[in-house]
Amino acid sequence: MKYGRTYNFSAGPAIMPEPVLEEIRDEMMNYRGSGMCVMEMSHRSKVYQQIIDDAEQDLRDLMQIPDNYKVLFIQGGATLQFSMIPMNLMKNGKAVYIETGAWSNKAIKEAKKVGEVIVAASSKDKNYTYIPDCSNLDIPEDTDYVYICENETIHGLTYNKLPNTKGHILVSDQSSMFLSRPCNVSDYGLIYAGVQKNVGPAGMVVVIIREDLIRDDLTDLPIYLQYKTHADNGSMYNTPNCWAIYCCGKVFKYLKSIGGLSAMEKINQDKAKLFYDFLDSSKMFKGTVVKADRSLMNIPFVTESAELDAEVVAATKAAGYDNLKGHKSVGGLRASIYNAMPKDGVEALVKFLKDFEANRK
Ligand SMILES: Cc1ncc(COP(=O)(O)O)c(C=O)c1O
Repeated sequence: MKYGRTYNFSAGPAIMPEPVLEEIRDEMMNYRGSGMCVMEMSHRSKVYQQIIDDAEQDLRDLMQIPDNYKVLFIQGGATLQFSMIPMNLMKNGKAVYIETGAWSNKAIKEAKKVGEVIVAASSKDKNYTYIPDCSNLDIPEDTDYVYICENETIHGLTYNKLPNTKGHILVSDQSSMFLSRPCNVSDYGLIYAGVQKNVGPAGMVVVIIREDLIRDDLTDLPIYLQYKTHADNGSMYNTPNCWAIYCCGKVFKYLKSIGGLSAMEKINQDKAKLFYDFLDSSKMFKGTVVKADRSLMNIPFVTESAELDAEVVAATKAAGYDNLKGHKSVGGLRASIYNAMPKDGVEALVKFLKDFEANRK
């Protein structure tokens, strides 16, 4: 790492690609001859319009988003979507949720405030260490949508096969795996992702929504909470998170430049394999998730005791590997190795943990 930077294994806000940070630095004082920083720019200016248009187009190219889907940049993080989704998509007042960990749970809680929530599958019985079988869910005919958190950031689970929704709309929280692998957008009615994990600065969510799901009969909903408001106004009904859109746009371009999402997936598989192979061969450390459902992005692991976990966290921090403490709700350790974590960061951490274990023998 350059500039004395640390290997940052944070679950989010998280590491950004260095070439992107360098470009942002170079454009900081005077964006491409505009005489100002992007932070200082009117969102109604021509220069800024080009920034948001490019960001959307580059995301469309990366994910091959079909024309009948809108791309929206909305504030309120991913959390606001826990409410906006049921408020906008529950026509019959009923939705099926799959419970796989902390983030699907938060979404369930909010949806219950809006309508009926049917938890059709759950892995709560084993502390969210696996993805339940979703091949034959009990889905009432009048269900408005089926909801998943496609990568549980805290518990470290990911779906390798999407649920069989039996023709119902699939809604997915992709916050902690957004753009980490190719995604067939047409499999979904709505995809959303808080950007502060794999893409950019905190405070914004990208929503990709099939056009026919955007309703115009929700005039009683607060204006900001209607997808229609954002869709009709090119994500600029009010002042958008201009800075986040600019930074995300840079990351989208960067991902295109390294070969797109297939190339990114290969890199991510390679990095994750390094770490999981180490966990599977270690006697001191062990992964907490069943092999088939392991996340490529968030890797929770434990030692035999909470005391030793804390000792390892302290030792890694002192050695320049930051944010390895597991989430307070599950304990242990967690390495988040998002798109921007270089392979040498994973290699260095694995070597450090191997040496730590060897020195204990
Ligand atoms: C999977 C997932 N969904 C939702 C959120 C909430 O995002 P935000 O903090 O942007 O509201 C997070 C993390 O913060 C997350 O990891």
